[in-house]
Amino acid sequence: MNYRHAFHAGNFADVLKHAVLALCLNHLIRKDKPARYIDTHAGTGRYDLTSDAARRSPEWQAGVARVMDASRPEAVEAALAPWLKTVRACNPDGGLSAYPGSPDIAAAILREQDRIHLCELHEADCRTLDQRYARDARIKAEQRDGYKALAALLPPRERRGLVMIDPPFEQRDEMAAMARAARAGLERWPTGTFIFWRPLKDLWACDRFDEGLAQWLLFEEGFDPEKVLRADLWVRDLESEGKLAGAGVVVVNPPHTLEADLLALLPWLCDVLKQGEGAGWRLDGALTEASVDLDTL
Ligand SMILES: C[S@@+](CC[C@H](N)C(=O)[O-])C[C@H]1O[C@@H](n2cnc3c(N)ncnc32)[C@H](O)[C@@H]1O
Repeated sequence: MNYRHAFHAGNFADVLKHAVLALCLNHLIRKDKPARYIDTHAGTGRYDLTSDAARRSPEWQAGVARVMDASRPEAVEAALAPWLKTVRACNPDGGLSAYPGSPDIAAAILREQDRIHLCELHEADCRTLDQRYARDARIKAEQRDGYKALAALLPPRERRGLVMIDPPFEQRDEMAAMARAARAGLERWPTGTFIFWRPLKDLWACDRFDEGLAQWLLFEEGFDPEKVLRADLWVRDLESEGKLAGAGVVVVNPPHTLEADLLALLPWLCDVLKQGEGAGWRLDGALTEASVDLDTL
């Protein structure tokens, strides 16, 4: 449990992950019926960009700060609008001194009738979450293993909603743990929207997760191909040394509008967030010719 998101909050990977999350949540609230948001790896909810951690590792300057400063074409502005609104909401003075994590984004977008369940295994971080949202009756924070919690939490009473799985990837078998959670979660709740975040550190392992998940859903569970959408962004050559160069999400049961929004957004993000040669992006259904069994990851 060494991972501290405060060192990475607002970086390029957060921008894509959180823009996707905000678009999915925004779509959920189009209907009056209540929805449930479950965050298996919640972090602390909001990040102080003037903190010691953010000063020592100012990754946000090449992430959220660049996006805020850039001139944004209309289609990009529309695709970023739900997320930008949450960034502005936690910076009421108009500056950029705080960054909303996934719990804060859900709290800002969801309504009174919705419920938010946050799991965070780190004791102090969970206490921070608990204190931050103590007065918000919609939100429950638990110090609990998010993967294990899914069995008890799914399907939610509301029957509509979203599960965000955003692990720190500090364990070597994290991809396998996420694959088990994906299978167990989707078996229990095949109509829920699921967002799986993964770093593009080991592209081979990452592609095996994506392909195994897509193949299982399409060929064994009878999902339509448009029910799996993968969006990745890399800000320099993935082979380059140093900090994380690429990351993205696989979304299961995405809103039907997500692909078009991301098609407008990804080339622009790639241009604005690039940190060197070899930056790129991909948006597809995560399927190739390879045959991967999700259980063997
Ligand atoms: C990448 S951060 C989460 C960031 C957050 N989702 C966001 O977007 O703002 C991952 C978090 O998972 C926590 N964590 C690690 N293993 C966990 C587990 N098995 N269950 C729940 N939380 C865990 C870490 O303490 C860390 O705060």
